[in-house]
Amino acid sequence: MSALALATQSVNLGQGFPDTDGPAFMLDEARAAIAAGVNQYPPGRGIAPLRHAIADHCSRHYGLAYDPDTEVLVTTGATEALTAAILAFVNPGDEVVALEPFYDSYAASIDLAGGIRVGVGVFGPDFRLDLAELEAAVTPRTKVLLINSPHNPTGTVLTRDELSAIARLAVAHDVLVICDEVYEHLVFDDAEHLPLASFPGMRERTVRISSSGKTFSATGWKIGWALSTPELVTELTAVKQVLTFVSGAPFQPAVARALNEGDLWVQQQRLALQGKRDRLAAGLRAIGLDPVIPSGTYFLSTDVTVLGYPDGVAFCRDLPRRCGVVAIPHQVFYDRVEAGEPYVRWAFCKRDEVLDDALDRLGQLVSRV
Ligand SMILES: Cc1ncc(COP(=O)(O)O)c(C=O)c1O
Repeated sequence: MSALALATQSVNLGQGFPDTDGPAFMLDEARAAIAAGVNQYPPGRGIAPLRHAIADHCSRHYGLAYDPDTEVLVTTGATEALTAAILAFVNPGDEVVALEPFYDSYAASIDLAGGIRVGVGVFGPDFRLDLAELEAAVTPRTKVLLINSPHNPTGTVLTRDELSAIARLAVAHDVLVICDEVYEHLVFDDAEHLPLASFPGMRERTVRISSSGKTFSATGWKIGWALSTPELVTELTAVKQVLTFVSGAPFQPAVARALNEGDLWVQQQRLALQGKRDRLAAGLRAIGLDPVIPSGTYFLSTDVTVLGYPDGVAFCRDLPRRCGVVAIPHQVFYDRVEAGEPYVRWAFCKRDEVLDDALDRLGQLVSRV
């Protein structure tokens, strides 16, 4: 879709990347690191200052303590942490229960490991988790629960009660939990992100995964991390060693600094994103779409069948040609594609003028429908 956006000179509200940079002091730190010769292989688990910064950040925000030497692994984005965890812990025939719609790398990694994907719906129109479905999905064949909250593409943030129910299930069935928390700081209004690892019985069975990409608007740096017990982190490290061996040397001191000193920047960014969410939602409403307001991430979704399209794929294929805007159909994130058919995901992590331009263009489309 990004290639299509470029080819058709469309406004790209498809792929989830911000069009402004992260904190200036973080960018300066990376430049200084390159100039100072920090350009060769760093340690496999990540440089000590970054592992300390990750552990301190987790303890400061959630009261969750991890040992920077044995319980933290720096990875090449959250993607590598997720893939390493799935390859390390899922054997052929094992079931992985995950929230559906799924972030796209999950399906590929589970397939690579020979695992079987079992989706639990976070379906429209309200995109809430169906706890009864989750309970039925977890069986003796389940090896791993893969939980993404805040959730891409729906923007759903799991509540304390939902997380408690997931934790109780995980403990009762003795399953490992992989938590994808890359949008941990992008939560709005009174929503709160709570790590599952902080619930009773969970720390020792949870791999907590996050990344600097979303938090510090640096998706191209690919510095992520995984936190867990020394035993599980050792397993992850063994897989990481053959996936990438190490991760971007000059970006590591920069992300360490951002984690240590960037809380105010992140808070301002969160509020700015909330304003962008509301700006895009109001504009979409004005052209007859009815956005589902997300509590987290930088995506919102609308049912586009009200505009006369049979589904989101037909809408998104037509959109660049008809009015020069790109969005992503939900269908691509589902096994049960019919559940995603009506919906389209719009990224709002863009400058206000870009959002306004997209809305102007969409307005022309609607006036011609
Ligand atoms: C839910 C989710 N997990 C993981 C990732 C990948 O993170 P990274 O870019 O740090 O590999 C993304 C990126 O869009 C995502 O939305």
